[in-house]
Amino acid sequence: MTERLQKVLAQAGIASRRKCEEYITSGRVEVNEQVVTQLGVKVDPEQDEIKVDGRPIRLQSKLYLAFYKPKGVISSVKDPEGRKVVTDFVQQINQRVYPVGRLDYDTEGLLLLTNDGEFAQLLTHPKYHIPRTYHVTVKGVPHGDVLEKLKQGVELDDGMTAPAEVEYHDIDPDKNRTVLTMTIYEGRNRQVRRMLEAVKFPVVKLKRVQFGPIYLGGLSRGRYRELSQDEVKQLKAAAMESHNVQNTK
Ligand code: URA
Repeated sequence: MTERLQKVLAQAGIASRRKCEEYITSGRVEVNEQVVTQLGVKVDPEQDEIKVDGRPIRLQSKLYLAFYKPKGVISSVKDPEGRKVVTDFVQQINQRVYPVGRLDYDTEGLLLLTNDGEFAQLLTHPKYHIPRTYHVTVKGVPHGDVLEKLKQGVELDDGMTAPAEVEYHDIDPDKNRTVLTMTIYEGRNRQVRRMLEAVKFPVVKLKRVQFGPIYLGGLSRGRYRELSQDEVKQLKAAAMESHNVQNTK
């Protein structure tokens, strides 16, 4: 498959796409022994011999990880304020991965990481509605009418949410706390927290336990595991399916 040269260089981890464009225009890149200075040239990374500063590039294999993001970590690869970021936890893999969507700083749980930009875009594009399931801890015990409101969808300042699925997971009368299992089909900013605020049960703790067909399972906080090829396939299928389902509603 052919792709633009600057994209192939960026995917090989040479530098950002913009920087790779500069490498090309300044004559540092060769394709099949010919210096290429024009942008937009298409190459086949499997067939063409591509060199930067005379050294062949190494294609990165695609990597897909399920990561247990702890609370107090930014869903980003860099933080100007120096707070912990998700990539601090995957340094030993020697590949540049980034998060698929985000979890709030105070939210813990399942976050997918990848170096496959198309995959990340597919899973987070608003036209797809992959289910995301959370354990939501609130103070007190929300009664059935509160759950009913969440199930019907809640009016937020950016519009009505899609209906959510909600059920009781655990009620602890001693601590006066309830844990709900809640599944939403959109990825709006702070959506679960805002939905719970709207029904007057602010979130005390939030943990994502499932993303489409992938479960957090027994992963420990701060650890990751590689997804199998089958899981990656299932995720792609879940995105496609979610699109079809929404369009036939
Ligand atoms: N909803 C939220 O409110 N926060 C998250 O991190 C994810 C979903």
